[in-house]
Amino acid sequence: SVPKVSKICCIGAGYVGGPTCAVIALKCPHIQVTIVDLNQARIDAWNSSDFNLPIYEPGLEDVVRATRGRNLFFSTDVDGAIRAADLIFVSVNTPTKKTGIGAGYAADLNYVEKATRRIAQIATSSKIVVEKSTVPCRTAESMRVILEANSKPDARFDILSNPEFLAEGTAISDLVSPDRVLIGSLQTHEGKEACKALSEIYANWVPQERILTVGLWSSELSKLAANAMLAQRISSINALSAICEATGANIDEVAHAIGKDTRIGPKFLKASVGFGGSCFQKDILNLVYLSESLHLPEVAAYWRQVVEMNEYQKRRFTRHVVDTLFKTITGKRIAVLGFAFKADTGDTRESAAITIIKHFMEEKALVTIYDPQVEHEQIWMDLQEVSPTFTLQQIKRQVQIAPCALDACAEAEAVVIATEWKEFITLDWEAIYEQMSKPAFIFDGRLLVDSAKLAKIGFKVSSIGRGA
Ligand code: NAD
Ligand code: UGA
Repeated sequence: SVPKVSKICCIGAGYVGGPTCAVIALKCPHIQVTIVDLNQARIDAWNSSDFNLPIYEPGLEDVVRATRGRNLFFSTDVDGAIRAADLIFVSVNTPTKKTGIGAGYAADLNYVEKATRRIAQIATSSKIVVEKSTVPCRTAESMRVILEANSKPDARFDILSNPEFLAEGTAISDLVSPDRVLIGSLQTHEGKEACKALSEIYANWVPQERILTVGLWSSELSKLAANAMLAQRISSINALSAICEATGANIDEVAHAIGKDTRIGPKFLKASVGFGGSCFQKDILNLVYLSESLHLPEVAAYWRQVVEMNEYQKRRFTRHVVDTLFKTITGKRIAVLGFAFKADTGDTRESAAITIIKHFMEEKALVTIYDPQVEHEQIWMDLQEVSPTFTLQQIKRQVQIAPCALDACAEAEAVVIATEWKEFITLDWEAIYEQMSKPAFIFDGRLLVDSAKLAKIGFKVSSIGRGA
């Protein structure tokens, strides 16, 4: 019979675990959801009385306000939540390994394994264990071996793969009306029953035809495949943006023209200064490593090129800034608008802005940053991490953080738009122009602002994918 789920535990209260399980709690008032984490500060923020949540995500606060204390709880009592739960989401981080075998490519599965071992050690009754984290294909097999080797006599474990497809900045709407929910299970009787139990949870708000049930390995691979193909579209359009700049073609026109083909489609064809975020690069490198481990070097090289093109795009952009500013930016003031990896998030992981500013620092420019969401502490941490040869003091000699865009641009020689925050479109560009050194340059890395209008004000505008 299909296992009954009345209590859910989610291990990992991050960008995925938090919003995902908050929405489950919202849509399933009959289920008690407890999100646990080892990080006390993070849990305290989720529990804060003024709803100063650890992540910024439009609509998230409303969901947490509606559910917290009702059927949604945040706690550091990992063991207690495991013990009580019928179903456990493993939603921990799976970063790229920094050292050891596969360093720079393979996913670090140590957090998944620790969480799995904890479940095995603590559980005294049967559990459905759900991989929510993005993992290499066949990770569920390792989890099964660990769980079975450590389980108590009355506890059996069924493992499901249920990768998450939400994008940051739109997490709540993505979760409330997903394109699809993917559930992978072993094709055994028990596997299928567990799969049904999880489907029934989603069926509380997701139409049945959007809940896809597949084999475990297909599910795991589909997640890597989806991210790889999304990122590949961006690298493709960015590669074309370089041709546009050299020929006078306009990348927006090209993207629009090709996107009208229903086989290609219009989404995810926005040329940019390069994709960022915690997952695209990590997941492609993970796919590259998987391909290499399977002795498929041509496949590995194919996907690696998507990441290499992204690095190229960031380098190309910085070089263009330096070249345009008469081949030197030493001592010149450059305003960088946006530090997050995309709009509507405070997340900076792998943000293109970090790489660009690092290059500017190496060229000895003076950089002033403004971002409407990112915490200042985070900016200093990111810049220190990317430039280990600089001390924080040295960084602060070259870099400042401004409280608003206007201040960031004051006396600058150039403005660089690194994140597509909507508020940058409607800035008082005339006032900004007045306060800048002349000639005043704008480098639009996001095709965000109206270049004709800015040129009329007097700016010298350079946009990604638009020739002079
Ligand atoms: P995150 O770093 O924000 O959150 C992970 C949390 O897990 C951290 O707070 C960490 O303290 C906690 N944790 C680690 N080990 C633990 C343990 N043993 N017990 C309890 N807590 C533990 O990461 P994230 O962005 O939420 O990503 C989680 C996973 O989801 C990754 O595999 C990622 O690839 C995938 N994913 C992320 C996104 C996204 O938009 N960020 C989207 C889809 C999938
Ligand atoms: C991405 C995927 O879109 C999600 O489906 C997936 O669940 C998630 O990764 C994950 O696995 O973590 P996310 O990274 O949050 O989501 O945000 P995206 O909207 O995909 O943007 C990623 C980067 O690509 C951003 O830097 C964005 O600015 C850039 N981008 C996006 C472009 O440069 N051009 C585009 O057309 C679209």
